[in-house]
Amino acid sequence: MRTVRVTSSGCLAFLFVLACVLVLEVTTDVEESSDGLNNTREPVWLADVPAAEELIAAAEVAIVGFFQDLEIPIVSTFRSMVQNFQDISFGISNHSEVLKHYNITSSTICLFRQVDKEQLRLDDKNIENTDADKLSRFIQINNLRWVTEYSPLTGSGLFNTMIQTHLLLIMNKESPEYEESMRRYQEVAKLFQGQILFVLVDSSKEENRKVINYFQLKESELPALAVYEMTEDKWDTLSISEVTVEQVQGFCDGFLKEQLVNDDKSEENTLKEEL
Ligand SMILES: *[C@@H]1O[C@H](CO)[C@@H](O)[C@H](O)[C@H]1NC(C)=O
Ligand SMILES: *[C@@H]1O[C@H](CO)[C@@H](O)[C@H](O)[C@H]1NC(C)=O
Ligand SMILES: *[C@@H]1O[C@H](CO)[C@@H](O)[C@H](O)[C@H]1NC(C)=O
Repeated sequence: MRTVRVTSSGCLAFLFVLACVLVLEVTTDVEESSDGLNNTREPVWLADVPAAEELIAAAEVAIVGFFQDLEIPIVSTFRSMVQNFQDISFGISNHSEVLKHYNITSSTICLFRQVDKEQLRLDDKNIENTDADKLSRFIQINNLRWVTEYSPLTGSGLFNTMIQTHLLLIMNKESPEYEESMRRYQEVAKLFQGQILFVLVDSSKEENRKVINYFQLKESELPALAVYEMTEDKWDTLSISEVTVEQVQGFCDGFLKEQLVNDDKSEENTLKEEL
């Protein structure tokens, strides 16, 4: 469980340089509700612990507002988010039993994620000066899924996770193979829960060119997989013609195995140095 700062400092290479630079420039453009979206959506009222647990377990990303007092301004700000993030489950509770279970002692907004089993909190101190823009940004940054689409905002969220290895599928979202590829990619993502974060980079977007260039990939080599390890700044790429479960899984296993071998070697070296 971590309390999160909305902006990250001390950026590392790649995504993170990019994210940190851009995140300052990006204004939160919340998607307008349009046809097909549920304009009457409300947070689910959580009357007991099982209801809260059920909501959290069923969602890739769930956000729960735990409030002792429902009259404070953040509550209506919180409610106003529900319309804007249709892919997230929202819950709200003021029941002491529920608050106690989640160790809440003051008004807190919690984001629960499946992909890295993370629980992020905006608590009293942070909540006081949280307006709709800030809350919206907090959600956009931390809305990490089984497969997260890369953007400057999610780039910043990806940087903020405990998972140090990220796999990128760099592919044109408009290509006919896209949907089937994503289905398979997502399937593999679940196998590597807690080990590798899976990211999609839409190669048709001009602003993603920097990412593609970073991995020294040519247009003709796409679609491609790129795996990246943050602490060591190591990466590898594989040009693919289509996404298959076996290929993605093999690429990930290979990279993780290599990291292990390298770690062992560096441990041996430190040992020798110490002797
Ligand atoms: C819209 O949201 C309301 C309240 O959460 C819910 O009762 C209703 O079933 C939803 N409608 C659709 C079409 O999802
Ligand atoms: C929770 O909110 C409801 C509706 O405003 C209110 O009737 C109830 O007394 C509140 N419960 C607690 C424990 O504050
Ligand atoms: C609440 O805190 C206790 C003790 O630190 C911890 O064991 C428990 O898992 C926490 N509950 C939740 C729901 O995070």
